[in-house]
Amino acid sequence: MAPFHSVLILLFLATISLSSTRVEAQFSASRNISLGSSLSTTPTGNNQSFWLSPSGNFAFGFYPLSITQTFLVGIWLENTPEKTLVWFANRDSPPLSNGYSIILNTDGRLILRDSQTQETPISDNSLPASLASLFDNGNFVLYNSQSHLIWATFDSPTDSILSGQSLKNAFNLASKVSESNYSTGKYRLVMQVDANLVLAYVVQGAKTYITSDDVYWSSDTYNGGTNVSLNLDPDGHMYLIDANSSNIKNITNSQARRSIYRATVGIEGNFQLFSHNLEANGTMSSSIIWSAISEQNPCEIKGRCGFNSYCLQKSTNYSCHCPVGFESINQDDSSQGCKKKFVDAECGDKSGSNSFEMIPLENTIWIDNSYEAVVTNEQSCRQDCLNDCECAAVLFQDQICSKQSLPLRYMMPDFQNLTNAFIKVGGNGLKQSQNKMLWIGIALTISFFILVLVSVFLFIYSRYRRYQRLPKQSKSRAEDSNLRSFSHGELEKATGGFKENLGRGAFGTVFRGQLPNGVSIAVKKLEKIVEDGEKEFQSEVTTIGKTHHKNLVRLLGYCDESTHRLLVYQFMSNGSLANLLLKREMRPNWAQRVQISLGIARGLLYLHEECETQIIHCDIKPQNILLDEKKMPKISDFGLAKLMGPDQTRTMTVLRGTRGYWAPEWHKNMPITAKVDVYSYGIMLLEIICCRKRLEIGVADEEILLSDWVNDCFERGELEKLVREEEVEQCELERLVMVGLWCMQDNPNMRPSMRKVVSMLEGLVEIPRPPNPSLSE
Ligand SMILES: *[C@@H]1O[C@H](CO)[C@@H](O)[C@H](O)[C@H]1NC(C)=O
Ligand SMILES: *[C@@H]1O[C@H](CO)[C@@H](O)[C@H](O)[C@H]1NC(C)=O
Ligand SMILES: *[C@@H]1O[C@H](CO)[C@@H](O)[C@H](O)[C@H]1NC(C)=O
Ligand SMILES: *[C@@H]1O[C@H](CO)[C@@H](O)[C@H](O)[C@H]1NC(C)=O
Ligand SMILES: *[C@@H]1O[C@H](CO)[C@@H](O)[C@H](O)[C@H]1NC(C)=O
Ligand SMILES: *[C@@H]1O[C@H](CO)[C@@H](O)[C@H](O)[C@H]1NC(C)=O
Ligand SMILES: *[C@@H]1O[C@H](CO)[C@@H](O)[C@H](O)[C@H]1NC(C)=O
Ligand SMILES: *[C@@H]1O[C@H](CO)[C@@H](O)[C@H](O)[C@H]1NC(C)=O
Ligand SMILES: *[C@@H]1O[C@H](CO)[C@@H](O)[C@H](O)[C@H]1NC(C)=O
Repeated sequence: MAPFHSVLILLFLATISLSSTRVEAQFSASRNISLGSSLSTTPTGNNQSFWLSPSGNFAFGFYPLSITQTFLVGIWLENTPEKTLVWFANRDSPPLSNGYSIILNTDGRLILRDSQTQETPISDNSLPASLASLFDNGNFVLYNSQSHLIWATFDSPTDSILSGQSLKNAFNLASKVSESNYSTGKYRLVMQVDANLVLAYVVQGAKTYITSDDVYWSSDTYNGGTNVSLNLDPDGHMYLIDANSSNIKNITNSQARRSIYRATVGIEGNFQLFSHNLEANGTMSSSIIWSAISEQNPCEIKGRCGFNSYCLQKSTNYSCHCPVGFESINQDDSSQGCKKKFVDAECGDKSGSNSFEMIPLENTIWIDNSYEAVVTNEQSCRQDCLNDCECAAVLFQDQICSKQSLPLRYMMPDFQNLTNAFIKVGGNGLKQSQNKMLWIGIALTISFFILVLVSVFLFIYSRYRRYQRLPKQSKSRAEDSNLRSFSHGELEKATGGFKENLGRGAFGTVFRGQLPNGVSIAVKKLEKIVEDGEKEFQSEVTTIGKTHHKNLVRLLGYCDESTHRLLVYQFMSNGSLANLLLKREMRPNWAQRVQISLGIARGLLYLHEECETQIIHCDIKPQNILLDEKKMPKISDFGLAKLMGPDQTRTMTVLRGTRGYWAPEWHKNMPITAKVDVYSYGIMLLEIICCRKRLEIGVADEEILLSDWVNDCFERGELEKLVREEEVEQCELERLVMVGLWCMQDNPNMRPSMRKVVSMLEGLVEIPRPPNPSLSE
């Protein structure tokens, strides 16, 4: 008992001392501002344009933007030469011109009033304030009549936190757009609910959550506790604490106490700790104490160079370049990314592909976003890409050929020379191909190096690991179902020695074959099955074999002979939905797309609710929807997730996360339920509606991320934009979009069940207006 008690007491003491330092900081000297006080952009007489804290270090009021003669409402360090801004209000509204006042109204609201007496709130306090105070630590607060704190600038940080301030759980800091544009920029420091503190690039204008692909720094504390927050003490000690106030990670060490400390996400994406010291002559100096990304490695920060371009380091500076056959989107700003200089061959025009070549990109790698991976050799990998009009580049490694379409994201040097990268170039682009791209040796830190390695590794294996353990089911044997058991020899013969490769999915490679009775089959050779999982295999195969639905690919039989594990499916002549949507000449019309959406929804409903054992698919995406000769959609690869070994998903840290179709639960510490399929279905439904990928470039900024664009169009009532010139029935379009938005809600409880989805699609129930999907938590 005794040791347990002392731990409790220690914790208790720690809590007291922690909260007392905060109290000390917060209730240190303050300047009180009474109701009725005001500030003005044009100070006259007693009217000022800002209030100073007692020490004179911090100011609250109108911050002049020198170049444009405009103002922001903010808090800044008054004594630094550049008057460092540490907090600002209404950042995404245009800066203010002359003639504004800030008023602490007699009715207890803090407002901004323009010359026409139009009022905008600055604070969002619901109770009326009776006093405002500006503290010496830079916190501006409002109190009610009981002296309870009702609003504080420390609780709504913009791009910085100060000594004594914390970044609360689920809050983030966002960089400015540029030195002179204070709007929300493209870099975020996010205190994630999963306890990880991450620094990430966010596609401009995106409102959706961050994926692991976009993260370039992390505290590596995934799953480290509940309600974890980032704290900066008055001595410059920056650390993470959990709900019990116990320290789970130190980020910086304690420094001298006489400075003011500030941690900021800069416009270039670095997260840095600054110290500001008062010098003898009364000015304040600034110095950098710590940086998340070393200034020696500027290219580590993602998103510095846009889509299809790569970052090259020049000592501590960097520059962005286009690969062979590509040119800058904006000649004056190479960081905006690159576009093709040549015109694509028409799909299906085999002669056109002759004028194209696969140009090697030495020591280059990018975020693998392949739409298809096949096992082959390098020569046929290149040829395969040339013959495939959707293919823009390939990464070849360990006999695996990963075909990519544009955009290529986060291109960077591959020091290990693990993969061979090729990019498809034609026409005008080829004239340049003699100019060999030379990667200059770049010294990245070993940690980043490992990051690259791990990301390649993870991508390849991640799909094996994402699955859900389902309730144990009866030990029925495969023989109980009407599945046929094949010998390996039979299947070898049927596939002509596994010759015709149809593609490679997460679970193995698929080959085309024909049974002696003339039935066309697809044979899936499973890889990475759990060891000694013989019983498991039998029972899973039985489960899959018992599924009968017109929207599911039919399992005909299996082979379970020594180490060979194969599944035999009916062959689907029209390929995958991914091909159908993206290849122009095959694109289904609106009525067909509506039928396809409904068919898939019915198939999923069956898996979730109507078959004997619930099956969560876990990998719903257009590549896993096959189409028969009548373009009837059929879900494939269901039931396989469970076959692939123990759940290791949750142990992954930094690089875990979604790859587009995966629900937020996968990268938060939340239970995995059938709702993950509903989410993926929602994303796919939008792709079916719009006949495009969820991420696309060469379109206007606001259209890059499909989910955001659809939501914007929906909110503005401009749905017709989504289908361009196509003739569609307006209310049917609206119905599908609304279903998609409901399915995509971040909060799984808000998503409908597949049964509900089917009735909504069939028009049997009224669909309420969906909220913004990323705000549903
Ligand atoms: C400011 O107001 C608080 C609360 O009413 C009070 O405790 C404090 O003494 C005041 N400070 C000054 C400098 O007037
Ligand atoms: C100060 O500003 C307020 C609000 O704009 C205005 O009503 C008041 O007349 C001004 N006082 C002086 C002395 O200029
Ligand atoms: C600042 O940047 C945002 C986003 O890029 C843009 O919409 C806005 O117009 C810019 N504001 C100014 C004043 O240039
Ligand atoms: C998380 O911690 C903050 C204080 O840091 C507290 O205000 C908040 O209520 C906590 N939230 C939960 C859900 O525990
Ligand atoms: C907080 O501390 C209590 C008692 O030591 C412990 O039971 C609980 O699990 C802790 N909670 C967290 C989130 O660490
Ligand atoms: C963080 O540093 C403090 C000393 O400043 C130490 O007591 C504590 O154990 C450290 N926490 C961790 C998680 O390393
Ligand atoms: C004040 O002193 C610091 C260092 O002592 C110096 O860098 C700065 O230029 C001085 N500023 C002025 C205005 O003299
Ligand atoms: C870095 O390069 C950019 C152009 O690419 C240039 O404008 C800037 O001055 C350089 N910075 C340094 C510190 O050399
Ligand atoms: C990278 O590997 C390929 C083949 O594996 C080889 O042809 C090439 O020369 C290597 N490049 C470097 C820079 O080592």
